[in-house]
Amino acid sequence: MTATPDTLGPEDLRTLFLFESLDPGQLDWLSARGRTESRAAGTNVFTEGEEATCFFVLLSGTISMRRRVEGTEVEISRTSQRGVYSGATQAFMPSEERSRYLNSVLAVTDAEFWVIDADEYGREIRTWFPMAMHMLEGLTIGMRSSQLIVGQRERLLSLGRLSAGLTHELNNPAAAAVRATAALRERVSRMRRKLAHLASSSVDPQALVALTDLQESAVEQMVKAEKLSPMAVSDAEDALSDWLDDHAVAGAWDLAPTLVAAGVNVDLLDEISDTMPPDLLSDGIHWVAYALDTEQLMNEIEDSTTRISTLVGAAKQYSQLDRATAQDVDLRDGLVSTLVMLGHKIKEAGVVLVKDLDPDLPRVPAYPAELNQVWTNLIDNAIGAMPGGGTLTVRTTREESCVLVEIGDTGAGVPQQLQTKIFEPFFTTKPVGEGTGLGLDISYRVITQRHGGDLRVVSEPGDTRFQVRLPLTDPGAGR
Ligand SMILES: Nc1ncnc2c1ncn2[C@@H]1O[C@H](COP(=O)(O)OP(=O)(O)O)[C@@H](O)[C@H]1O
Ligand SMILES: [Mg+2]
Repeated sequence: MTATPDTLGPEDLRTLFLFESLDPGQLDWLSARGRTESRAAGTNVFTEGEEATCFFVLLSGTISMRRRVEGTEVEISRTSQRGVYSGATQAFMPSEERSRYLNSVLAVTDAEFWVIDADEYGREIRTWFPMAMHMLEGLTIGMRSSQLIVGQRERLLSLGRLSAGLTHELNNPAAAAVRATAALRERVSRMRRKLAHLASSSVDPQALVALTDLQESAVEQMVKAEKLSPMAVSDAEDALSDWLDDHAVAGAWDLAPTLVAAGVNVDLLDEISDTMPPDLLSDGIHWVAYALDTEQLMNEIEDSTTRISTLVGAAKQYSQLDRATAQDVDLRDGLVSTLVMLGHKIKEAGVVLVKDLDPDLPRVPAYPAELNQVWTNLIDNAIGAMPGGGTLTVRTTREESCVLVEIGDTGAGVPQQLQTKIFEPFFTTKPVGEGTGLGLDISYRVITQRHGGDLRVVSEPGDTRFQVRLPLTDPGAGR
C-alpha cells in the first residue's frame, strides 16, 4: 500500500467528474482548502441529523448510503464509484441555520475521501455560479411543493377510485337483499293464507303431516339440485307444466319455473298426488312451491349479506384502521383485500384474475396500509395496461431471504428504454388528467425506503411482471 497525500492537486481534482469543467483558479482554490481522509471498514463517515459540516467526495472503497425510517436504518444505495459525493450537499443553499446531514454514510470497506469544509465551500460556489444557484434553489423549492401537492392528489385519486368501486360493489348485494326481503314478506303472507285454507278444510291430518315431510325433502333436494343448461330448464318446465295442467293445478306457468329451479321433477309431483286428496292437490303443490320459493329467497338474502360483510371486512383490512405500525404481516391478506376492492374494475375491464398465493408464505415485518397502496398502484397499472382484456396474475413466492410478490399482466409491456424512467416521479404515458405519474414513484419509495425491499419490472410484450421483494427480517434490526 502506498501512503496517500493529505490533499489532492488540481490535476487530480479535475479527474473527479464533479470538478472536470472548473478552471485552473477554481481547482487551485479547492486543492488548497480540501484534504483527504480515510475511514476504516465498518465506521460511519457521517451521521444523519448531525450538523452538516463537511462535503465528501469518494476516492476509493465502497460506501453505503442510509436513511433512518421510523427508528430503523435503511440502505438507500451502495456504491464504489469514484467521484460520487455526499454530506453537506445543500451547503450552497442560503439558510438561517446550519443544515444537517440528510442521511448517513457507512464505509463498507476501507475508504478514502476528498473532504472540504461545508461553509467555505458553499459560499465559494455561490460566487462561482450565481445564476445556476438561483435556478437550483427555485427548482428544489418548486419540486418539493409540487411533489407534496401531487402526492396528496394521487392518494386522494386512488382513494376515490376505490370508494367508487366499493360503493358500486356494495350497492348490488344491498339492493338484492332488499328485493328478496320484500318478496319473502309477500310469499310468507300468502303461505299463511294457504295454511289457514288447508287447515280449515276437512283434510286428513295424516295427509298434512305427509305434505310437511314432502316439503322438507323438497327443500333438501333443492340444495343438491344441479344447475341445468337453459335448454334442459325449458324442457323440464314444459314437462312439469303438462303434468300440472293434466292434474288441474292452477297457475302452472307460474309454478313450473320455481319447481324446476328447486330440482323438482315429475316423480316428486306423483308422490304429492299420491298423498293428497284430488281436491286439495292444487293447494298442496302450491304449499310445497311456497316453501321452495321462500327457501330460495332466504338463500339470496344470505348470499348478499355475506357478500356485504366480506366487502366491509376487506375495506377494513385495506384501510388498516386499527393497525398502522410495523408488524409481522401476512402479505396475502393485503393482496386479497386489495383484489376485492378492485374487483369491480377487474370485471369491468374484462380481465381474468389468476391468484397464485403460496399457502406457506412466511410473515414479513411491514407497514400493511402502505403496502396496500403499492398493491393498488401496481394492480391498477396492470389493469390499465390491458385495455382489450387479458390476464392479471398475482403471485407470492418465498425466496431465500425474502418474499417475492409479482403482479403480472399480458399487456403490451414496458419498452426497454423506459424501464427505469417509469419509476421517476411524474413520468406517465397516460392522457392528462388520467395519470399522475406518481404511482410507481410512491410504490418504489414505500418498498425500498420504508421496507428495505426492492421493486423492479421485468417486461416483454404479453408478459410484464412488477416484482416486489420484501426482506424476511427487519432490515434495521441488529444494526
Ligand atoms: N403494467 C404496466 N404495463 C405497461 N406499462 C406500465 C405498467 N405499469 C406502469 N406502466 C407505465 O409506467 C408509467 C408510470 O406509471 P405510474 O407511476 O403508476 O403512473 P400513471 O399510472 O399515473 O401513469 C405509466 O404511465 C405506464 O406508461
Ligand atoms: Mg399508476
